[in-house]
Amino acid sequence: HRHLRYATRNAVNAVLDTGHYHPEAIDWQKLDDYLDKDGYQLLGDCQKGKVSVDALMTMLEASGLRGLGGAGFPTYRKWGFVRAEPGPRYCVINADEGEPGTFKDRYYLERAPHRFLEGALVSAWAIDATALYIYLRDEYPGLHRVLHEAIAELEAAGLVEPGYIVTRRGAGAYICGEESALIESLEGKPGKPRHRPPYVAQVGLFDRPTLVNNVETVYWIPLIWKRGAEWFAGHGRHGRSGLRSFSVSGRINKPGVHLAPAGITLNELIDEYCGGMQEGHTLVAYLPGGASGGILPASKADIPLDFDTLQAHDCFIGSAAVMVVSDQDDLRAVATNLLAFFADESCGQCTPCRVGTEKMLALLKRNTWNVAELTRLSQVMMDASICGLGQAAPNPVLGLLKDFREPLAAQNVIVRG
Ligand code: NAI
Ligand code: SF4
Repeated sequence: HRHLRYATRNAVNAVLDTGHYHPEAIDWQKLDDYLDKDGYQLLGDCQKGKVSVDALMTMLEASGLRGLGGAGFPTYRKWGFVRAEPGPRYCVINADEGEPGTFKDRYYLERAPHRFLEGALVSAWAIDATALYIYLRDEYPGLHRVLHEAIAELEAAGLVEPGYIVTRRGAGAYICGEESALIESLEGKPGKPRHRPPYVAQVGLFDRPTLVNNVETVYWIPLIWKRGAEWFAGHGRHGRSGLRSFSVSGRINKPGVHLAPAGITLNELIDEYCGGMQEGHTLVAYLPGGASGGILPASKADIPLDFDTLQAHDCFIGSAAVMVVSDQDDLRAVATNLLAFFADESCGQCTPCRVGTEKMLALLKRNTWNVAELTRLSQVMMDASICGLGQAAPNPVLGLLKDFREPLAAQNVIVRG
């Protein structure tokens, strides 16, 4: 963990603007320090009527800010959907970062909780929310302390009404990161995804219109306001726009959160941000979007990494969790590990996912992979599962069937058909 912090702090330092780091302990930015750097100015201006919701939405549209939990839905449009519904409305922040390989929300929360809280409070203000809920991943126990202390500072300073921000802990279920399952969990029920429509923008928490945003999405709002929409939109490569926080892990020299232009390719990311491949390791594959975003071969390491650019390759960038796989890694183990994860985390509500993940795992354990059988099963899961978990679970398998026959054969897995 310490290595991760060393590796990443320089890359993000310029943007965090917090000024102080301790090599041994995370020294998160306290309220006084944040206020000294114009912190909560945007929120104050909003509350005093100096900034209108329309102006903010125009800025968000110009910046190109999208949902950074993984779906990339334009943030201003989501605000618009919720605002169009009658009150009372709720704002919920999804801090249940559970996608394997993703740790960027944690990175920002544990360093700059006040910037996150300001972004969350501005979002809640924009939809005139009755309350702001933060649903925090249970496996981030240190963050409970960080957030609670930051919220207590805000309440003590009179910047937020006591009780307006409500924090809730998850209980370790990956599926509770899916927004409707998260809402079920907040309501005290088992975390099972709901059918959509209606979207949570219409029928969300306690059946009220609800804005659900990811931690990193709202984290950017005060900074975009301060530096301008053009500043955020001005980053980008290969025709893409904006900044992305890549959580990079695997066979590279500098794993960690790397803030990089949207549209950067894997080769560029590895060379410019990750210190190259580890010695003795040759790139064979990479997962561009965590467990659910599929898998690509080294020959496709020059594709711009961003929302919408990977669809032609049956992959997606999602929360930008990039996992780098080398010639030293066992590809079948990658596949079975991912499917075992999905089978374990399936909420069990629908058959294609509950049975499909188990069945697929069993098929992958065989030495011969039957393309027709695995493709048929994948299709059923993608077509008939209620939520993204079951729909995305076959992605890594489909990628392996398509592009990895030779390396699999070298590892004694025959792909037939
Ligand atoms: P989605 O594309 O179905 O929806 C995205 C957002 O837009 C949701 O908030 C949805 O309510 C809203 N929305 C879409 N169409 C709408 C409409 N017509 N009216 C009102 N609201 C609308 O994607 P979903 O299923 O919410 O998220 C999938 C993503 O989540 C994947 O790309 C995956 O990468 C990511 N993910 C991230 C994890 C993490 O730990 N960060 C964990 C698991 C998945
Ligand atoms: Fe539950 Fe899986 Fe169905 Fe989603 S797809 S509702 S996780 S069983």
